[in-house]
Amino acid sequence: MNEIKLFCPATIANLSCGFDVLGLCLESIGDEMIVRKIAEKGIRITKITGANLPLETHKNVAGVAAEALLNAVDTEFGFEIEIHKKIKAGSGIGSSSASAAGAVFGINELLGRPFTKHQLVDFAMKGEVIASGSEHADNVAPCLLGGFTLVRGYHPLDVIRIDSPEEIFAVALHPHIEVKTSDARAVLTPTVSLKDAITQWGNVGGLIAGLYTKDYDLIGRSLHDSIVEPLRRNLIPGFDATKFAAIQAGALGAGISGAGPSIFALCKGEAKAEKVAFAMSESYLNTGIVFDIHLSKINPDGVRIIE
Ligand code: HSE
Repeated sequence: MNEIKLFCPATIANLSCGFDVLGLCLESIGDEMIVRKIAEKGIRITKITGANLPLETHKNVAGVAAEALLNAVDTEFGFEIEIHKKIKAGSGIGSSSASAAGAVFGINELLGRPFTKHQLVDFAMKGEVIASGSEHADNVAPCLLGGFTLVRGYHPLDVIRIDSPEEIFAVALHPHIEVKTSDARAVLTPTVSLKDAITQWGNVGGLIAGLYTKDYDLIGRSLHDSIVEPLRRNLIPGFDATKFAAIQAGALGAGISGAGPSIFALCKGEAKAEKVAFAMSESYLNTGIVFDIHLSKINPDGVRIIE
C-alpha cells in the first residue's frame, strides 16, 4: 500500500465544562486527505483545495505534525500530502486538528502502524501549536480516537476514550466569521477562583458520569462553563440568544464549540436534534450573519480510510 485517502472528521472541543480536556468527534463533516509514500525523504504538501493555507511544511499544521512523527522513526523514504478542506479554518470545529490528525494517521498506516492511535495524539498535538500557539489535544484526541475523549493529563499525555450513549446527537452552528484560536485564548485569565474551579470540576465529573450511565438529566446539568464561556461569549454575535433557543427547543445543553465562533448543542435523539437545529437557525437569522449548521451523530471511529 503506497497511497491512501482519508476522511478527517470535525470535532467539538471543551464541551462547556472541559476546557482543553474534553472533546467529541463528528460524523457529518470532515476534510479529505491523500497521503502517498514517495522515494524522497521528508514531508511534502503538494496540494490544498478549499482553503488558502501554506504549502510549506513548517508552516502547515499537517506538515508540522507529520514531521514530528517522522522524526520518531527511521525511514529511507518520505510522504506527500494532499489536503482537501471542507472544514473552514477558524470555525471552532477542529479544522486544524483534522489536518494534523489525518497526516499522522495516514503516515502511520503507510508505515505499517508502528504507533497506536493514542501515541499519535502526541504528534498531532505538535501541529496545533501552529494554529493556536499552544499544544492542546482536546480536538486531535477525538479526531484520532473517535467518540468522546478526556485528556486526563498533559505531562505526560494521558488520553482516555469515554463511552457514550448511541442516542446522543450534536448540532454545530457555524457563523461565517473567523475567530482565531490564539485570539480566543488571549481573552482568558491565567487564574480562576476556587469557587469557579469547584463548580467546573463538579461539572466535568458529572458529564463523564452521565455519559457512562446514560443519565441524560445529569449530562444536561453538567453542560455548563463558569470559567471560559463568560470571557468568550462576547466574541460571538448572537451567542446568548442562540444558546437559549437551543435549550428552549430541548437540547441537553449548549455552549461555545472549541474556541468559537461555532455554537454547539447536545441532544437526545435525532428528532430532538433536528428541532434544536431549526430553533438555533431561526435565532441566528436575526444576526444577519451567514451561517451553516451541522447535525451529526457521534463518530465512534475518528479518522478513517475511505480508499
Ligand atoms: N480548547 C481549545 C480552546 C480548543 O478552547 O482554546 C480550540 O482549539
